[in-house]
Amino acid sequence: MRTHGAVLREMGLPAPYAQSQPLRIETLELQAPGTDELLVRVRAAGLCHSDLSVIDGSRPRVMPMVLGHEAAGEVLEVGPGTKGFAVGDQVVFSFVPGCGHCDPCASGRTALCEPGAAANTAGTLLNGARRWQASDGSDGNLHHHLGVSAFAEMTVVSARSAVRVDADLPAEIAALFGCAVLTGVGAVVNTARVAPGESVAVFGLGGVGLAALLGARAAGANPIVAIDVLESKLALARELGATHCINARDGDTVAAVRAATRGGAHFTFETVGNEQVLVQAYGATRRGGTTVTAGLPHPQKMFAVPAVSLVAEERTVKGSYMGSAVPQRDIPRYVALYRAGRLPVDRLLTHRLKLDELNAGFDRLARGEAVRQVVLFD
Ligand SMILES: NC(=O)c1ccc[n+]([C@@H]2O[C@H](COP(=O)([O-])OP(=O)(O)OC[C@H]3O[C@@H](n4cnc5c(N)ncnc54)[C@H](O)[C@@H]3O)[C@@H](O)[C@H]2O)c1
Ligand SMILES: [Zn+2]
Ligand SMILES: [Zn+2]
Repeated sequence: MRTHGAVLREMGLPAPYAQSQPLRIETLELQAPGTDELLVRVRAAGLCHSDLSVIDGSRPRVMPMVLGHEAAGEVLEVGPGTKGFAVGDQVVFSFVPGCGHCDPCASGRTALCEPGAAANTAGTLLNGARRWQASDGSDGNLHHHLGVSAFAEMTVVSARSAVRVDADLPAEIAALFGCAVLTGVGAVVNTARVAPGESVAVFGLGGVGLAALLGARAAGANPIVAIDVLESKLALARELGATHCINARDGDTVAAVRAATRGGAHFTFETVGNEQVLVQAYGATRRGGTTVTAGLPHPQKMFAVPAVSLVAEERTVKGSYMGSAVPQRDIPRYVALYRAGRLPVDRLLTHRLKLDELNAGFDRLARGEAVRQVVLFD
């Protein structure tokens, strides 16, 4: 069937993207869903820094690709033999499809699914299929972004990439649970397992960092220190429950966090995607504490810390991918917390866009002028 989507054919075009237009809205031919697949009408799709990192080349992917991985939509068609979904269901996409059978899946670590990661690297669905073509058939099948490719009116996904949510949850809110919320809240509750009264410092207050802050608040962390280079982000963090706000441009950030937390935070979170900030987060972690990073720097960037501090101070450094989530378990839990008023993720939504405004939206994200922007399709 015919649909329209935002295709990236070349990484690394110069900003501003409103001029260089790395994403082009193309007419696409989308195949019907196969076994264990769903055809979904996308209702709302968020702009994440990980999309921007593909556009600017710091997170290289196979080209050409239909971009977008944080979204919600409505099931239009259920592929043959696909269980657990019905036409009309509202789904949130998960950006790692969990096969359910590999060692990480069997260990409750769906975010690390091995066939899921291999499919994401190859730009295919979990079963290896690629369901898109340019309508003129010019360059073979296009690639899927993280099994989702949500910057399109319709998409075909593996049923393992979809989680059913309440039909009455507004799509523009539901979308945020697919990446920012799953990643940020999960970093706190799954990866770090923060306990009430433990101190937290969050470095970088984008969609992921602010979701981590909301998670820290829901977990009962105290104090909660928020760090960014933009006053607008610090002001929002204060409204969302940060007890201390530090502008990283104002002098010694590590010393400021250590002072606010009486000697370093129990848990620090790096949610910028910058290895220098990760060094700061490590420096701001207390003896016996844990430094968690969810940022995704360029693959060539290295992270070095004094080796002896790991031992003599019993430090832990943990990576957190997709919030160490089991999406089928965690997304409904986080949605329920939102509905109970304990996770106000609607505060992350700052802009609503049309599909053809994506390039300007990524300029806004790069400049730090937005938290989460969502493309709406209705
Ligand atoms: N681990 C995962 O599964 C996962 C999922 C989604 C996103 N990510 C990654 O997380 C990172 C954040 O994503 P996002 O969408 O929230 O990005 P974002 O662009 O919305 O937010 C980044 C924030 O960092 C701030 N910042 C920049 N430099 C800083 C510095 N030196 N010190 C402190 N703050 C600084 C910016 O002002 C901005 O507020 C990216 O690297 C993204 O690729 C990882
Ligand atoms: Zn994302
Ligand atoms: Zn698996």
